[in-house]
Amino acid sequence: MMGSNSLVWPILGFASILVFVYLSFGGLLSVNYKNDPRLSFVERNGTNFVVDGKVLYVNGWNSYWFMEHAVVDHSRPRIREMLQAAAKMGLTVCRTWAFNDGDYNALQVAPGQFDERVFKALDYVIAEARQVGIRLLFSLVNNLQAYGGKTKYVKWAWDEGVGLSASNDSFFFDPSIRLYFKNYVKTILTRKNTITGVVYRDDPTIFGWELINEPRCITDASGDTLQDWIEEMSSFVKSIDRKHLLTIGLEGFYGPNSPKKDTVNPEFWAADLGADFIRNSAPSTVDFASVHIYPDHWFKKKTLEGKLMFVAKWMRSHIEDGDQVLKKPVMFTEFGLSDLNKGFDPLQRDRFYKTVFDVIYESAKKKGAGGGSFAWQFFVEGMEDYNDDFGIVPWKRASTYEIIIQHTCRLAKAHGTIASQKEKLKRLCNQR
Ligand SMILES: *[C@@H]1O[C@H](CO)[C@@H](O)[C@H](O)[C@H]1NC(C)=O
Ligand SMILES: *[C@@H]1O[C@H](CO)[C@@H](O)[C@H](O)[C@H]1NC(C)=O
Repeated sequence: MMGSNSLVWPILGFASILVFVYLSFGGLLSVNYKNDPRLSFVERNGTNFVVDGKVLYVNGWNSYWFMEHAVVDHSRPRIREMLQAAAKMGLTVCRTWAFNDGDYNALQVAPGQFDERVFKALDYVIAEARQVGIRLLFSLVNNLQAYGGKTKYVKWAWDEGVGLSASNDSFFFDPSIRLYFKNYVKTILTRKNTITGVVYRDDPTIFGWELINEPRCITDASGDTLQDWIEEMSSFVKSIDRKHLLTIGLEGFYGPNSPKKDTVNPEFWAADLGADFIRNSAPSTVDFASVHIYPDHWFKKKTLEGKLMFVAKWMRSHIEDGDQVLKKPVMFTEFGLSDLNKGFDPLQRDRFYKTVFDVIYESAKKKGAGGGSFAWQFFVEGMEDYNDDFGIVPWKRASTYEIIIQHTCRLAKAHGTIASQKEKLKRLCNQR
């Protein structure tokens, strides 16, 4: 007996040291990433977003480039820099791409084939956002060609001999392509994050899902094709994930049967794109509506004054729809003013931002449906290649920076601050 005991105790002692070391270091890692008490799911209560028992109006932004930059080790610090700077400005949600279909550094290399290296990059983006209490609105595919988009899905189906048509709009109606997309969506939603250990559909860092960036289906101006796709895909997302909010990703144009096509749409063409703001946003599986704001693209001749008047009217009209017809929040998920305009001056962009923020605040004061806005687009210094004519490094221009922060602070004063922001905003908004 003695003999065996003398052997057992040292072994047990050594084993307990191993367990201790494992728990301490495992514990350190999990303090960083697991069970972070600061984040809970954003929910919807009628026309409002609610989190931590408070109504939330989003001051948000777009940085579409996060996943792509996270693939490459040496550009990863840019994501942290952007997220930390945004948190410092009191921003709460970033809209970004959770897709790259068949392009350089693609996440989906071919239908149903994923590059684990790129998936890990997306894991990293989520883990980093969680660290600073920023939530992510993830878009799942592009209507446009950048990063693959619906064109790539159509090409895949065509090349595999299963596609019914070479039309880019067959993305919406071809049964094989619908299956490709559903498979993609399911893989994303059920992905287990390799850094945090949290499955995407269970992760409150994700604000919500956007089905598709700026859908148009011009081959069916009646709108039936896109409507059918929206109903099927939004139900599909909900069948996998009931915790997260869902939106479509519309630009907000009124369709052929809407009286507002004549009074609010920018011009006549906008009713013929196969999309219809009210009808598309109505299904119960769609939690909030989305609208974009690009007066430079939509008008050739208007002056800045004319554009700003349009912007306020465009926004108020959609917020009214949210309050009275849809009874759900409306988010302006992209707004931008081009610096290619003749006689452009950054002060014009300040006025444009202020116009957007003022309409949101007007709605927020009444607890209305104007749920928030997302500037297109922010990036950090040294990323000029990723800029278009709309992008800014917000902290490079004091006046723009101040306008954004003032908006953060007045929203916080109207409805209180969500838990992850409390300490930050106290300092930020004290003198404002
Ligand atoms: C949800 O909305 C109802 C009706 O406006 C309101 O009475 C209730 O307080 C809201 N709940 C939360 C958590 O905001
Ligand atoms: C699909 O879209 C791409 C990109 O805009 C374009 O080059 C191509 O010609 C389109 N295909 C068809 C059949 O219209």
